[in-house]
Amino acid sequence: MAYLQPDREGKVYLPAIRAAKENGEKLVCLTAYDYPTARIVDEAGVDMILVGDSIGNVIHGYGNTIPVSLDEITSACIAVKRGTERAMVIADMPFGTYHVSENESVKNALRLMKYGGAEAVKLEGGRNRVDLVRRLVDEEIPVVAHIGLTPQSVYKMGGYRVQGRTADQAKRLLNDAKLLEEAGAFAIVLELVPRELAAMITRELEISTIGIGAGADCDIQVLVLHDLMGMTFGRQPRFVRKYADLRQVMTDAIHAWTGDVRSGAYPNEDESYGLTAETLVELENS
Ligand code: KIV
Repeated sequence: MAYLQPDREGKVYLPAIRAAKENGEKLVCLTAYDYPTARIVDEAGVDMILVGDSIGNVIHGYGNTIPVSLDEITSACIAVKRGTERAMVIADMPFGTYHVSENESVKNALRLMKYGGAEAVKLEGGRNRVDLVRRLVDEEIPVVAHIGLTPQSVYKMGGYRVQGRTADQAKRLLNDAKLLEEAGAFAIVLELVPRELAAMITRELEISTIGIGAGADCDIQVLVLHDLMGMTFGRQPRFVRKYADLRQVMTDAIHAWTGDVRSGAYPNEDESYGLTAETLVELENS
C-alpha cells in the first residue's frame, strides 16, 4: 500500500477533535479529491480533509451525488492520503454503499479504510442510521454522521432546501443528532439548517458539529474546495464565499499560452533542447 507513511507529529485523530471542542477551538475542513489539492489543503493547515461525494458534482460533472461509486471515492482517497500529512482524512460513503445490509456497509467502510487510507467515514441520515453507526463504531470504524440537507436524498426531497425550519422539523433534527451521538458518531455534519438550530445542536452535543450553510456557531466549518476557489459553474448557494477565482486565473493562463503558441512565442530556445554544434554539422553533412 503505497500511501502508507509514518504519521507526523500533530497528525489529527479523534482525540484532537474532542480536545478542540472542549477548548472551544474552531477547526476547519475542506474537500479534496486528488494529490495536488490535498497537499495544498494540508500544507495550508486545514484540520480535516473530506473526500466528499461532492466529487460527483465538482469533478465528474454528474449533476448530483447519486451516481458516485465506491471505486471513485476509494481512488480519490488513495491520492488524497498520499498528499496529506497532518489533516484527518475522511471518506464519504457513496449512495448505495451503506443501504443494503449492515455487513455490506461494514465491508465497504473497511475498504475505504484499508485500501483508500481513510481514517474515518461519513454517511448521511438520522435515526434510520443509528443501528448502522453503532455497528460501524463497534468495528473500530470512526464515523461522521450527516443530517439536515442530505444530498443523497435529492430525489426524495425534490431539491436542495433549508431543513429544520419548523419547530417539529427542528426538534426531529435535534433528536436525530442526539441519537447519532449516542450511537458513537464522533462528529456530525449539519448541512443547510437555520443557524439558531445549529447553535442549539452544537450546545447540546458533546461531539463536534461540522457546519455547512449552518451559521457560525458550529464547532467546525466545512466547504467544498472548488466552491471556495471559484472553480464551479452556475449559481452558488448563499453560504458559499468565493475566496479566489481560479476559473478566471486558469482561463487567463490558457489564453496566454494559446496566444503564445499561435504567435510562435512558445516554446522559446530556453524551453526546448538543442543539438551540439558538432552533431549539427555531422547531421547536415550526412
Ligand atoms: O460531499 C461533500 O462535499 C459533503 C460536504 C458538503 C459536507 O458532504
